[in-house]
Amino acid sequence: MNNVWAVGEKQSFNAGWLFAKGKNLGADSASFSDEKWRQLDLPHDWAIEGPFDKKYSARNGGLPVFGVAWYRKHFILPKSSANKNVSVTFDGAMSNSSVYVNGKLVGERPFGYIAFNYDITPYLNEAGHDNVIAVRLAPQNYSARWYPGAGLYRNTWLEVNDQVHVKKWGTFVNTPIVSEEQATVRLDTIIENHGRDTSVSITTEVKQADGKVVKTLNRQLYLGKNSSTKFGAEFLIESPILWDINNPYRYDIVTSVKREDKLVDVYHTPLGIRNIEFKVDDGFWLNGRRVQIQGVCLHHDNGPLGAIASTRAIERKLQIMQEMGVNSVRTSHNPPSPELVELADKMGILLQVEAFDMWQLEKPTVTNGYHKDFDQWHEQDLRDMVIQNRNNPSVIMWSNGNEVHEQKEKDGWKLAKRLTDIMHEEDHTRLVTHGMSMYPEPTQNGFAEQIDIAGFNYKAYLYSDIKKKHPNWLMLGTETSSVVSTRGVYHFPIEKYRKHPSKYVTSYDVVTPPWAYVPDIEFDNLDKNPNVMGEYIWTGFDYIGEPTPYGGRDHGHKFYWNQDWPARSSSFGAVDLSGFKKDRFYLYQSQWTTEPMVHVLPHWNWHKKVGQTIPVMVYSNAEQVELFVNGKSAGRKTMGVDTVRLPVSLKYDKQTKHFDSPYRLMWNVEYQPGDIKVVAYNQGKVVASKQVNTAGKAYQLVLTPDRTEISADGYDLSYITAEVQDKDGNMVPDADNHIQFKVSGPAVIAAVGNGDSATTAPFNVDYRRAFYGKALLIVKSKKGQTGQVKISAYSENLDVQPITLISN
Ligand code: GAL
Repeated sequence: MNNVWAVGEKQSFNAGWLFAKGKNLGADSASFSDEKWRQLDLPHDWAIEGPFDKKYSARNGGLPVFGVAWYRKHFILPKSSANKNVSVTFDGAMSNSSVYVNGKLVGERPFGYIAFNYDITPYLNEAGHDNVIAVRLAPQNYSARWYPGAGLYRNTWLEVNDQVHVKKWGTFVNTPIVSEEQATVRLDTIIENHGRDTSVSITTEVKQADGKVVKTLNRQLYLGKNSSTKFGAEFLIESPILWDINNPYRYDIVTSVKREDKLVDVYHTPLGIRNIEFKVDDGFWLNGRRVQIQGVCLHHDNGPLGAIASTRAIERKLQIMQEMGVNSVRTSHNPPSPELVELADKMGILLQVEAFDMWQLEKPTVTNGYHKDFDQWHEQDLRDMVIQNRNNPSVIMWSNGNEVHEQKEKDGWKLAKRLTDIMHEEDHTRLVTHGMSMYPEPTQNGFAEQIDIAGFNYKAYLYSDIKKKHPNWLMLGTETSSVVSTRGVYHFPIEKYRKHPSKYVTSYDVVTPPWAYVPDIEFDNLDKNPNVMGEYIWTGFDYIGEPTPYGGRDHGHKFYWNQDWPARSSSFGAVDLSGFKKDRFYLYQSQWTTEPMVHVLPHWNWHKKVGQTIPVMVYSNAEQVELFVNGKSAGRKTMGVDTVRLPVSLKYDKQTKHFDSPYRLMWNVEYQPGDIKVVAYNQGKVVASKQVNTAGKAYQLVLTPDRTEISADGYDLSYITAEVQDKDGNMVPDADNHIQFKVSGPAVIAAVGNGDSATTAPFNVDYRRAFYGKALLIVKSKKGQTGQVKISAYSENLDVQPITLISN
């Protein structure tokens, strides 16, 4: 807050909060003594600070995600705010929030993922005097199937508006007709008047990204006192620049409100002009061409940073996903942060925005889940989610839920219809899906008929049957595969086991829980069923909690999840919790990208296996690949012709015990130290290659930042990979050296990590062990402090070259 609001400005309300865990009776009152409370800036996730403890359940990451805590903030509004309308926005509060201003309850909101805005004008003291906002949060145990985080983990905003202004989230823009020549744009706007009756003139300008105004509309309105007025406009944009995944272009619609010739509000609405179509026999179309959905499910947490909505953390996540070939994200299983949606708009990523993981019926052991709030809150939460995200061109569909248990109930369709109807009421331009997991119930009891796009979780091998029975359904793999693997870990022989004593999982990409299957089976069935729009894999990134296959699905035992403690993070990701790529990243890249690539696994340090056979697996998008072992060719193989026999077990097909995958190549090689090299060919010409050497002794720790320049805004991050290497620069694949980090200058350590899914090592410290050769350091800039940031590390017997970043 800098105490001067430009017209229409929303200011960050993140700085200078006070925090205390515990009941703190009386903390709602203005006079409560909070001098001893901890000072912090938002967003903040108290649970990620730990400590890890079984009592919080490995399913929720073994972190303190429940309990009562308070946030308080003192603020003084300038004299200029007198007679203005003041509102505060929480992009999310985890969870069961009660907000008080100067001792009075302003509102309560149980759902932790929804943004809400309160008009606090009536509660404020006279401008120039101290105000106190106090937020009580009371997240409960057994409220989620994953790590939800805890606290004011998303951004907060304060707006001081004229009494006449465009309503928060009060515009709705869409493009009913789009062609290269012109687009029809429909814009609805709600103006609020919190004062006496008045006349206003409203100017709406559509600006290109370069600022050029391509359309101007004017309107005079008479506003009754304390009223809200909605008006619509439909207009043409000639030769529109389309929003596309390859060209994420947005116009900016600027609505300016004048009262008695004085500018009183300026409101921005993003406009992405694009055309989306869903075809029963030909999948999803964007701007007149088919786009296969190459999607990932992502939970909201940002690994070692916890649940906080960090713009850079989300951007990095999406960048890594795009590198894998991802063009779509499903916000499993909750409304996303505004930052994710904004980034998707700007980066050209299609979104499936999901609302709930539960409706009225409880999921086993999630005894304090959303079902408790469903009756009272689902309508408002659902409407708000749609209203808040419907102007973003990246959003192509909604999901009204994931695997809700109503799907198998005789009357479940009624609730499905109700939710779909609510979404259609708020947005007639997009379709609604649902992640249906049960079969055949929802396809027979009328449930699926209430879902515009029949979304199936883990049903690849049934696509053809379902299509035959329901030729008019739009179909999508809303959740697929669910392979588990641990970066750097390889077990022999290649087999599909349930668990491994190490509490890690092999990276040959064959292990899945019983309801799931290897990516190859999904590829195969999508190839055979082009009517299906594509898939959303479970998951792009590892997330905290749900450590499957360790712990386990509940059987009514609350702590069943802890039986393999400290396994406390998921292994489903193609990328680990620190953002390091697993081998599976390259399997998807080989199917989802065209720039020639080849990847080989495992590493080549098998000192105890000299003379034994090691399976060498290769992922590539080229036509042929040749393997060289210590310089000698082991032969060339052809993608799609040579196959790899993978162990599988399919829930609905007990006969099938293996799948001959045309999406991978494999050689069995006698291990001798040295190197393996893969060379990829298209039409006989070398297009890509990769070599893996047997690494020598750990000699050095190499620090590599993802960005050497960060912004001194107090939020920006640099992710520094610390890799243990031998003298020649080969990563030492089993290195677990302890690393002590040191950061000096205008930045702080935000977190450390290494992708280890089974450890209680804290994230908010300055040290970490390498895990299979790598560790991660995340540094954050200090607000307003510029200059050089020096980063160094100490690790016994290792050589370290410090690095420098610039914060400006
Ligand atoms: C699905 C569920 C996901 C996750 C996944 C693990 O059934 O929708 O949230 O639990 O299983 O395979």
